[in-house]
Amino acid sequence: MSRDKDTKIVYVCRSCGQTSAKWLGRCPGCGAWHTMVDEPVNTPVRKGRSLFAVSQSAPLPLLEVSADVDDARIFIGMNEMDRVLGGGLVPGSLVLLAGEPGIGKSTLLLQILCRLASNQNQKKVLYVSGEESLAQIRMRSERLGKIPESLWVACESEIDRIIKMVEEQGPSVLAVDSIQTLLCGEILSAPGSVAQVREATARLMQLAKSRGVPTILVGHVTKEGAIAGPRVLEHLVDTVLYFEGDRSHTFRLLRTVKNRYGPTHEIGVFEMTEAGLKQVPNPSEVFLGQRPKAVPGSVVVPCMEGTRPILVEIQALLSPSHLSMPRRTSTGIDSNRLALLIAVAERHLGVALYDRDIFINVAGGLKISEPASELAVIMAMVSSLRDVPLDMDTAVFGEVGLTGEVRAVGRAELRLNEAARLGLKRCIIPHAGSDRLKFSDSLEILPVRRIDEAVAAMSEVS
Ligand code: TYD
Ligand code: MG
Repeated sequence: MSRDKDTKIVYVCRSCGQTSAKWLGRCPGCGAWHTMVDEPVNTPVRKGRSLFAVSQSAPLPLLEVSADVDDARIFIGMNEMDRVLGGGLVPGSLVLLAGEPGIGKSTLLLQILCRLASNQNQKKVLYVSGEESLAQIRMRSERLGKIPESLWVACESEIDRIIKMVEEQGPSVLAVDSIQTLLCGEILSAPGSVAQVREATARLMQLAKSRGVPTILVGHVTKEGAIAGPRVLEHLVDTVLYFEGDRSHTFRLLRTVKNRYGPTHEIGVFEMTEAGLKQVPNPSEVFLGQRPKAVPGSVVVPCMEGTRPILVEIQALLSPSHLSMPRRTSTGIDSNRLALLIAVAERHLGVALYDRDIFINVAGGLKISEPASELAVIMAMVSSLRDVPLDMDTAVFGEVGLTGEVRAVGRAELRLNEAARLGLKRCIIPHAGSDRLKFSDSLEILPVRRIDEAVAAMSEVS
């Protein structure tokens, strides 16, 4: 990288892309520390073409515009993946597959491409990797199963050459691994810098749109923000999928963060095995599979993840604290929300929690952001505090208000039916609207208005 004296410098945040004329320790955009890096200003000339327009067209009455993306969708044939995309890949769409290094992005991508190459009537599928050698890719794919004939691979990181390759080969699907390795010759900064990553994505977007080739782009995110995070790209691409999971667990979740062609908050569940990623069609069974027999502090809650209900186990452990500031640790649940629920429980249940260390864990490494889990957290804490287990066959859901009331949550019927499907017998649910619910006969509901009623109901069934 060579810079002459006249090169103008701008400071860019590696995490969110915020720019500033001078260096700042803390990014004013996203609040992250030490993420501002200097980059030369040299906006490449775009040849008079808008980034997102496929073709220039005269205005039309909206009624005459066809919206049949669904007919053209390319079905991958992996249920967990297709659902997350909103029903398959849309031609011309750019999908960003983001995740921490080593979580399994390349493995997932290769599996998707193998499926696509075998489904697509021998139409070429092109995998361009800037990270691994051809031999490494071959070795990895041998572990994953049969290699289809129409899966083509290339090692390339120069964006212009990738574009040329696509123009010559005309693949039906393109995958690029990873955005951080791509290089645009005109830009002075190093691969992985904000300017490079942005320009390369913009060009791939243009390529995808102009040729109608669905493109999957891998992006690394690191906790330290050492390389330009995919957050800079989120507004540029059509769909953003986050592949996440605890590396010490074998489960991996694929989460839709943004989707121009389908629902968001959808999740796909996979398990990392010797032979690559295996789909988990019944996550509830897996998440509840290791649940101990009735023990204090364990409560099952039916959560909605996108359009699908998943039963998860919330565990609480309360023990006498010897610290002046007792510990409050939560995994999978926001710690501010936990603080609030502890305050509500102390005030409205009359329990003393100030002298307890409190640990909350969502089993299986899932993160729950839904308020529907709040009642379950309180009940798990009370169960642990009193050393009384909740009955194994009871699930709990409901949002908890500051005055101790239990509020209704959406999709109650779906949650109840999932609980019934997994063989649970009872469900403690919010009273509001409970008389209108239709659900399986095998399930008994215990509607409650306040958290003290819920705790009383718990004593009845345990
Ligand atoms: P990888 O797809 O290379 O991660 P990323 O592209 O996100 O950096 O996955 C790497 C991990 O996956 C590595 O630790 C080994 C593991 N793995 C398996 O457990 N089974 C397999 O069949 C494969 C291919 C990888
Ligand atoms: Mg990789």
